[in-house]
Amino acid sequence: MHPSGPEIGKYLYNVCEQFHILDKIQLDTNVTSARWLETEEEWELVLEYMAPGMGDLSSRERKAIAESQGIDKVCLKREMIRAKIVVSAVGGLVEPKPYPQVPGLDRFKGDILHTARWDPTIKLQDKNVVILGAGCSAAQVTPEIIQPPYNAKSVTQLLRSPGWVESNFGSEIVRWWESNTPTLFSWVPGLQWIVRKALFAYLELQFQLTFTMGATARKHRLKQQKALIAYMHKMVPEKYWEILTPDYDIGCKRRVIDADWFRSLQNPKIELTSLPLTSIQEQTVTLGPGRHYPPMSKTDSKVSTAERTIPCDTLIFANGYEAGEWLHPLDVKGRDGRSLHDVWESRGGSQAYLGTAMDGFPNFFLIFGPNTATGHSSVILASENMVNHSLKFIKPILNGEVSTYEVKEEAERKWTQRVQEALRDSVWQKGGCRSWYFNEGSGWNATVYPWSQIHFTLRCMFPRYGDWEAKYTKKGVIKRRLMTAAKLLGTLAVMTAVVYLAMYGPEAVVGELRAVLRSGLNRLRSWL
Ligand SMILES: Cc1cc2nc3c(=O)[nH]c(=O)nc-3n(C[C@H](O)[C@H](O)[C@H](O)COP(=O)(O)OP(=O)(O)OC[C@H]3O[C@@H](n4cnc5c(N)ncnc54)[C@H](O)[C@@H]3O)c2cc1C
Ligand SMILES: NC(=O)c1ccc[n+]([C@@H]2O[C@H](COP(=O)([O-])OP(=O)(O)OC[C@H]3O[C@@H](n4cnc5c(N)ncnc54)[C@H](OP(=O)(O)O)[C@@H]3O)[C@@H](O)[C@H]2O)c1
Repeated sequence: MHPSGPEIGKYLYNVCEQFHILDKIQLDTNVTSARWLETEEEWELVLEYMAPGMGDLSSRERKAIAESQGIDKVCLKREMIRAKIVVSAVGGLVEPKPYPQVPGLDRFKGDILHTARWDPTIKLQDKNVVILGAGCSAAQVTPEIIQPPYNAKSVTQLLRSPGWVESNFGSEIVRWWESNTPTLFSWVPGLQWIVRKALFAYLELQFQLTFTMGATARKHRLKQQKALIAYMHKMVPEKYWEILTPDYDIGCKRRVIDADWFRSLQNPKIELTSLPLTSIQEQTVTLGPGRHYPPMSKTDSKVSTAERTIPCDTLIFANGYEAGEWLHPLDVKGRDGRSLHDVWESRGGSQAYLGTAMDGFPNFFLIFGPNTATGHSSVILASENMVNHSLKFIKPILNGEVSTYEVKEEAERKWTQRVQEALRDSVWQKGGCRSWYFNEGSGWNATVYPWSQIHFTLRCMFPRYGDWEAKYTKKGVIKRRLMTAAKLLGTLAVMTAVVYLAMYGPEAVVGELRAVLRSGLNRLRSWL
């Protein structure tokens, strides 16, 4: 249920091996720009072959190295290539957020790392660790690093605001699942399929009950919140209850799935605090005065605000990702040299028809594009839907029947309008939280899909070709004419049969058919 990083890596490698695509993948290569060439009807891409180790850094870090030590330290070679079709699968949670600007960060003598760029070789044995953040990543890292092989001496976790924390079935069930289901699934045919579909159905129901704004969902959210507060009270020491009680609706911000975080808070080696990180020294950090949560305006709060300085050997930032800007920092220029980011800015924010296509950007497909993330189901499933949907347009291009496919502007704008309208009336926007899902200033949410995954699956399964502009090749035109003729002939044949049936009755039709068949067989025999 919770595969490790190396296990996921091995799985991905095996899939590539199974489908014989290992030699089609080029690693350590950064695509910096893509430009549509109108006359050639092709994309021109600039590739950067990265120096060893550079692929593990964020683009911000690579840029800083290039500026201070020269581009050769980052990029070994540049190449321009042409492509008829571009499919962007650059992910949404790739670029780590920069470290917060805390005075003294540059003076710090210990190790600093970001959860998005986890270094498995990092030595934490007997180290005092400070981890900033209380989202999903921090909740996974905190309980792990006090255990072997890491064995940190202490962990101080800094919380800015609490998430709603859900139990993941309980550690007993997870342990049982992890040790038994591989055997069960291999012995009982179809069981894995049934379990996966049942889980999907359950999560779809939870979507309706958690994220919509109807009276049933509101009631259900209150019930869920009560249960989660009870769970939190059962699992963590009382001193943390106040800072772990959210002041917004469940579902508003990404829920934290509790593998072992809450239980680990009982360990005296771990301290959770909402004191802000105010300064950093060579081997210490200063927390406070003041507090992030509950807000200082809550005057009856018992949560400490007193400044203190604690030892720190390692700083771990679990402060999340640059999630607001899609395709950042890839520079994409479509028809008439229009930049994708400029088009998005002029239309209010990042957007794409079904999260997959933009008008003015022919033969360009996005996988996991704007408004396709799901907080209740699997992103992989949504991505597979986008892949299948895109393939319906890619195949005719590869077959040489269509030279360009492009979504119509009207369809793109209408889709985006519907998405943003639906989001305005959802718990993500109305739940009273701050989250990486939406831009606080403009209220634009370019992250989540507002409807169920059944809805998305169906939309991707049955494309609306009327929303697309196709430029057919000669081969495509001939194929279309032949298909239209075949359809016409088929309709004509059916209509003739119906008229004949009405005029002469079924016996005459059967007799006629028999005669046609007999004469056909006789002719065949005479040929043989
Ligand atoms: C810690 C974490 C845990 C998650 N857990 C779950 C989960 O349990 N379930 C779930 O459904 N989702 C989860 N997600 C969401 C997750 O982002 C997606 O499920 C999944 O990784 C998306 O796959 P992807 O291939 O679209 O993007 P990614 O896996 O992010 O891959 C994008 C790739 O594109 C590369 N790239 C980016 N820009 C360029 C460029 N300009 N040139 C060349 N290459 C580029 C990146 O280096 C990366 O290799 C999690 C995300 C994080 C960060
Ligand atoms: N399947 C999984 O179990 C799993 C695991 C990991 C990640 N993920 C996915 O990845 C996404 C990102 O998770 P994440 O935990 O890396 O990031 P995140 O959800 O954005 O959480 C970042 C944390 O850092 C805090 N923070 C950010 N900037 C800060 C600052 N300047 N000072 C103090 N605190 C600051 C945030 O506080 P605020 O909340 O107050 O902003 C939050 O607690 C998740 O939402 C989820 O979709 C999934």
